[in-house]
Amino acid sequence: MFQLNYDSEIEALKRENLLRIVRDRDCPVERTIITGGSRLLNFSSNDYLGLASNAGLIEAAKKALDSFGHGAGASRLLSGGSSIHALLEEKTTSFKGTEKAVLFNSGYAANTGAIPALADGRFAIFSDELNHASIVDGCRLSPAKKCIYKHNDLNHLEPLLSKSRSAYKLVITESVFSMDGDIADIYNLVVLCDKYGAALYIDDAHATGVLGNGRGSVAHFNVVQTNNIIQMGTYSKALGSVGGFAAASASVVDYLFNTARTLMYSTALPASAAAASVAAIDYIGAHPEALTRLRENIMACRRMLIAKGFPVTLDETPVIPIVFSSAKEVLHISQCLIENGIYAPAVRPPTVKTPRIRISISAAHKKEDIERLVNTLSESV
Ligand SMILES: Cc1ncc(COP(=O)(O)O)c(C=O)c1O
Repeated sequence: MFQLNYDSEIEALKRENLLRIVRDRDCPVERTIITGGSRLLNFSSNDYLGLASNAGLIEAAKKALDSFGHGAGASRLLSGGSSIHALLEEKTTSFKGTEKAVLFNSGYAANTGAIPALADGRFAIFSDELNHASIVDGCRLSPAKKCIYKHNDLNHLEPLLSKSRSAYKLVITESVFSMDGDIADIYNLVVLCDKYGAALYIDDAHATGVLGNGRGSVAHFNVVQTNNIIQMGTYSKALGSVGGFAAASASVVDYLFNTARTLMYSTALPASAAAASVAAIDYIGAHPEALTRLRENIMACRRMLIAKGFPVTLDETPVIPIVFSSAKEVLHISQCLIENGIYAPAVRPPTVKTPRIRISISAAHKKEDIERLVNTLSESV
């Protein structure tokens, strides 16, 4: 009789050093975390401002739990929303400088909902080759023609745009690339999109709360928000909460409310999650020093790594990849770090093409944490 069994596939992953293990925590996401019974310095979270365990966010979530209960009970389009969901959309709208914003349950749901809703069969999508899996999956769900352009290479993108016969064009890029930490050339992408009558969809997951005084890449590059720019983002990284959003013109957002399947056919976020996100946006406005601390930590880490001979750039982003030639090597380095009380995860194919240690810097780190990371890394290679 047929037995569903993946043991040989799992064995193959093990042999190739590609088997994933889950490393659950026994504590909040903080500067240090307890996992596998050990307390480790945490260089693995996207909690760039240290807000995931911020007392103000926790208090806001608790208040919302008391007022609105835990479960949302239904999709946003039925009765799943609350006045806090609406408030978060308003805050996100002014934070991002758009006409409107719509919440999703996650950044993943935002990309897999918004991209196929917007890019119908009349469209061609132009997507950076290193775009996140959620963008790739969003593109797969769209009937549009797809063109993949070389990473951040506008000279490759331009002829693809100029040759396209599609009536509607949508260029999609991350602003801060999640595994490489480099920054897309948003300014020139906007110029190029204008030239060829294309819309630009920016995944600001790792720029929100980091670049442009926390407002993201559009503010960072000082480009004018037009009806042709969609700023997607997530509350789950620097904002220390959970949920995704698309901020854009009223026309785009109203259309998404009516067509994005991950919004229409999924239970809304709990009001407590939305309340924590509201508190996070307020926190960023009131605490510019947190962003300064983050920037100082980023630059300190990058400079120390360069001084030890690591091929690292001086991008002002908290994602710092140290690339190695094999999955075996990267697993070994990550294990050495753990044995020395540091957690910086090994990221391997298929998440990335080239195995790497992915360092995430936070405003919560102290200078000695970063020194310890860099010295241990340097001794481990
Ligand atoms: C670039 C990018 N987009 C979208 C997402 C998905 O966001 P979320 O974790 O909120 O689902 C991620 C998360 O890993 C990401 O890195």
